[in-house]
Amino acid sequence: MAYETILAETRGKVGLITLNRPTALNAINSGLTRDVLEALKLYDADPAIGCIVITGSEKAFAAGADIKEMQSRSYVDNYLDDFFAEWDAMQRVRKPIIAAVAGYALGGGCELAMACDFIIAAETAKFGQPEITLGVMPGMGGSQRLTRFVGKSKAMDMCLTGRMMDAAEAERSGLVSRVVPAGELIEEALKAATKIADFSLPAVMMNKEAVNRSYELTLQEGLRFERRVFHSMFALEDQKEGMSAFAEKRKPTFKNR
Ligand code: HXC
Repeated sequence: MAYETILAETRGKVGLITLNRPTALNAINSGLTRDVLEALKLYDADPAIGCIVITGSEKAFAAGADIKEMQSRSYVDNYLDDFFAEWDAMQRVRKPIIAAVAGYALGGGCELAMACDFIIAAETAKFGQPEITLGVMPGMGGSQRLTRFVGKSKAMDMCLTGRMMDAAEAERSGLVSRVVPAGELIEEALKAATKIADFSLPAVMMNKEAVNRSYELTLQEGLRFERRVFHSMFALEDQKEGMSAFAEKRKPTFKNR
């Protein structure tokens, strides 16, 4: 598959997507949107892939939606195209997606990282929702997902002042799962992704689905969903293998990887 704005390569069982518009700090334009969503769809459908990593450059994961491309759009254009709604397709990706963030993750870049399943940040990462400085607001999930990650007070602060959050604050606030030295970002993200890809794929996908349900359901409904899925997992050969391997003091060999 030929892409113009990303590099897509496989590292073992991991699909690695590198945003690649260096002259615009990986700003999200229509081409990058098309390329990322296509690569995600192909990796999700590829039985040889168990986990996906999205990363950018040392300077920028992505500095936001492409301001120059969108500046002349009208309300009617946005409404008729349902501008940015195509990113909803990310929620249909059933395999895990890790964001590996170095440098700027601003506006749509921060929102893209938050749409992944978890974020590993380099010490150089800077997160922000600076849309207010452009006379607008987040449009790809920032006001909703950021609030769920870091709580109302900090989300308000970020959206209303447009300030950036460094990696240490992002980790403290629960926005990122871990912070690693910049030189080790890709290696650490690939290590985590490979670890995930070596587990039972149906078990991985069911874990992802259950955690995501916690955003949508009441606690009682979520607990019921979790229990039903947990029960069903005993129909997996990989459950028998995983538990037998533990009892026999050996490493499991999962069939559905
Ligand atoms: C288009 C962008 C861009 C963007 C940077 N560039 N961000 N182009 N859209 N979001 C371009 C610059 O115009 C410049 O191009 C080149 O990338 C390098 O950027 P510089 O500004 O020269 O770099 P630097 O001085 O290091 O500053 C880095 C920066 C700054 C602090 C990240 O670029 C910046 O503030 N960018 C905009 C951040 C932002 O406001 N993001 C939110 C966008 S709105 P030239 O051609 O001059 O070299 C948004 C809405 C989301 O995301 C809602 C729906 C998704």
